[in-house]
Amino acid sequence: MAAYEYETHDYDVVVVGAGGAGLRATLGMAEQGLRTACVTKVFPTRSHTVAAQGGVAASLGNMDEDHWQWHMYDTVKGSDWLGDNDTIEYVTREAPRAVYELEHYGVPFSRTEDGRIYQRPFGGHTSEFGEGKPVSRACAAADRTGHAMLHTLYGQSLKHKAEFYIEYFALDLIMDDDGACTGIMAWKLDDGTLHRFNAKLVVLATGGAGRTYFSCTSAHTCTGDGGGMVARAGLPLQDMEFVQFHPTGIYGPGMLITEGARGEGGYLTNSEGERFMERYAPHYKDLASRDVVSRCMTLEIREGRGVGPRKDHIYLNLSHLPAEVLHERLPGISESARIFAGVDVTKEPIPVLPTAHYNMGGIPTNYWGEVLRPTADDPDAVVPGLMAAGECASASLHGANRLGTNSLLDIVVIGRATSVRAGQIVDRKAPVPHADDSKVDAILDRFDRIRHANGDNATAEVRLKMQRSMQNNAAVFRTSESLREGVEEIREIWGDMQTIKVTDRSLIWNSDLMETLELYNLMANASAIIEGAEARHESRGAHAHEDYPERDDKNWRKHTLAWVDASGKTRLDYRPVHEQPLTGPDEGGVDLKVLAPKKRVY
Ligand code: FUM
Repeated sequence: MAAYEYETHDYDVVVVGAGGAGLRATLGMAEQGLRTACVTKVFPTRSHTVAAQGGVAASLGNMDEDHWQWHMYDTVKGSDWLGDNDTIEYVTREAPRAVYELEHYGVPFSRTEDGRIYQRPFGGHTSEFGEGKPVSRACAAADRTGHAMLHTLYGQSLKHKAEFYIEYFALDLIMDDDGACTGIMAWKLDDGTLHRFNAKLVVLATGGAGRTYFSCTSAHTCTGDGGGMVARAGLPLQDMEFVQFHPTGIYGPGMLITEGARGEGGYLTNSEGERFMERYAPHYKDLASRDVVSRCMTLEIREGRGVGPRKDHIYLNLSHLPAEVLHERLPGISESARIFAGVDVTKEPIPVLPTAHYNMGGIPTNYWGEVLRPTADDPDAVVPGLMAAGECASASLHGANRLGTNSLLDIVVIGRATSVRAGQIVDRKAPVPHADDSKVDAILDRFDRIRHANGDNATAEVRLKMQRSMQNNAAVFRTSESLREGVEEIREIWGDMQTIKVTDRSLIWNSDLMETLELYNLMANASAIIEGAEARHESRGAHAHEDYPERDDKNWRKHTLAWVDASGKTRLDYRPVHEQPLTGPDEGGVDLKVLAPKKRVY
């Protein structure tokens, strides 16, 4: 048994991750006086939420008529009818309140002439239950909305005396013999000490697993750590095969160019200078849903109408927009285009390509953020002591495809919901649970094994192999052949993991060890993605399967569950979609008939 000393901390609530979801959860917990720790591997304001650009969706109706019921309908349709309708209703109804709350906390939203929150159009956000014109629903702070939110939420959390453990890497969940979560173990990166956090409630808000792909808009820190920890705790991941490709990553480096650029009037062209989206989506054109636009761009390139010497990308045109729009509404992407593509957006188009951007799937939860351990008898059974929110979770607001700006909404509404629920279920007078020390020993044994791993495979090489395999086999379009190849390759890479090599054995600022621990987390996510995708014989949302081009609601309107064990072996099962919304038309809700699946056209 590995002999490590550790420091013990007791809290009511431990939140892991300090992006938007983690901070909103932390703030909500601390506001009601729960003793709350936020444990994060990066400084809070460097979390990946800082890169979110275009806005947060809410039917404020500041620019056009809008209603939460229209937002709900668009989200159900955007999810390609895989989203859970109770979650979708909860989130879209709460959206205006959540945004005004952010405004009151101090988020510096851009303003209309008369001082209200500025809103812009985004893909898939429409009026009249998908029959009317595009609606301006994205509440924006220029093109730095995530940045503005993150700084405000961090300041508010400090104000309410939440305690931060910064640059602590969460190793694993501490689960007791009854299957409840009682805390986490963490490694403090700057001094090498180990820390046991016992808590009545753990909230995972660790972000997505974008780095499973070679080219993505996600930060290097997006390594699916929550998914990895949950998998090692014997819990499933849900709907991981649905990976969103954002239409406009900068060709090459992959940096995000916000969809807000098209919301402000930008448009895509092919090598013939044609605005090709008019052909594919005559009504909403460049503002069709993201999965649709990414597929159309890929088809244009495949059919030889890509731009550039290799005809392998597309142009995003902004130079016709007034200088003040670029300056006031899109300053961040104008700068990114200059730095990363060498383009002056007032004169030239930006070279762009669909780029891995977001995991629709994640740790299954209900709309309070409580983590589920589905069984045959109870597909909605809850894991005591464990919640998840944000991109690491699947509530499922987004189903098979997320609408732009619904992720910032997800993190604030469900981040807040975890704290509302915590207020109901955390017994302040009860002692903090302490699982048996043997549970901690097992976590430290694993940590020690990886620290001393002495095989032949460098972490960076194995990671690259995984990223290339995912990029080649599970991108915008998939086939039975590519997915089978992906499954085989990822299984082989698990074999390489058995002989991984960590060169640095120290405990202080050991990035080699940290990246290896992250790679284990990425691999759990990669297996869930590729195995779930290979098994799903239909096309839905972001899962465009060329051998099964149609959506098959009879057989496949269900959530995938993937259990990935420590050696990568993956078992799949399924759970039903929640079709029932929270309210019906008599209570102001949307008629189930209106929400029923139909052909998804834009
Ligand atoms: O295009 C964007 O600004 C991205 C927004 C989102 O992913 O929600």
